[in-house]
Amino acid sequence: MTRIRVTASRSYDVLIQPGLLDRAGEELRAVLPGARTAAVAADETVSALYGARLAASLEAAGFRTVSFSFPAGEGSKNLTTYAALLDFLGRNGLGRSDALVALGGGVTGDLAGFAAATYQRGMAFCQVPASLLAAVDSSVGGKTGIDLPTGKNQAGCFYQPSLVLCDPALLSSLPEREYRGGCAEVIKYGVLFDEAFFASLEETPVRDQLAAVIARCVALKRDTVAADEFDRGCRALLNLGHTLGHAVEKVSAYAVSHGEAVAIGMAVLARAAEKRGIAGAGTARRIEALLTRYGLPTATDLPREALAAAALRDKKNHGGRLDLILPESVGRCRIQPIPPEEFGDWLTDGGVV
Ligand code: GLY
Repeated sequence: MTRIRVTASRSYDVLIQPGLLDRAGEELRAVLPGARTAAVAADETVSALYGARLAASLEAAGFRTVSFSFPAGEGSKNLTTYAALLDFLGRNGLGRSDALVALGGGVTGDLAGFAAATYQRGMAFCQVPASLLAAVDSSVGGKTGIDLPTGKNQAGCFYQPSLVLCDPALLSSLPEREYRGGCAEVIKYGVLFDEAFFASLEETPVRDQLAAVIARCVALKRDTVAADEFDRGCRALLNLGHTLGHAVEKVSAYAVSHGEAVAIGMAVLARAAEKRGIAGAGTARRIEALLTRYGLPTATDLPREALAAAALRDKKNHGGRLDLILPESVGRCRIQPIPPEEFGDWLTDGGVV
């Protein structure tokens, strides 16, 4: 089993091992010896696949379990589901020392994490990622939240889990599109921090080295969170591809998935960075080629004006500036603040019309 210790305002382990789902109860019991009840939050699809196995493991470790499920998809990451989850916790008599377990992808982890952070001012929280994106990124680092009509993740807080239990075997049931989307986040880590890791993704498909890929991404994220838990500095690097990506998701009314949108965001900004002499020659081509190999898009025909307007409404437009994350080479990126009104020009340089 791989054990990665994350050091933050609450320190915790990320455990990675095939088959871990059936040992979730004993691992959670070791971390939360006094908890009586574990509430499991999962979308209906993931609940049907893995809910019973997780509940059986938790019950074998002495937890009373209750289950909250909701329709799958980004559309559930809203105030209505959040309120329903808080209400569910209250009606089932959970207390602060009980546990909320998020079984699922990024939507479930963000939503349940925000509920755990705010229910009785904070209850114990455990993440069991069931998507590649959640395994390599969103389950680690304590970002929680929900979407508002004005944009993604507009309400939320930092709240670290007590434990992350990653069973790579859960990811084998992923729909192909969701797997590909997770690969965009994996590629992101290579572009940001690790040329050798990027090269390994060029040589060996992610699914053929899944546990090792998850461990490498989690270790890179651990280092970033340890340096800047509250996202005031270098953690912004993890937004590579996300400023434009969130805009693509929003303008497409979420027809473009998160991972696809991040891929587009990385490719467009890499082309723009190369055109402006920030990225070395060939950087954009290499990033595009790997994204394409994983079946991900590298361009969009959504209108530039609408994308720029959506990006400027995004929360990363703060203090009168927009922080762009730009590759200098594969494995090295910079944070470049720009006046928000110039973002449209960057999109033009990246090939968005
Ligand atoms: N997913 C980006 C971050 O955790 O900062």
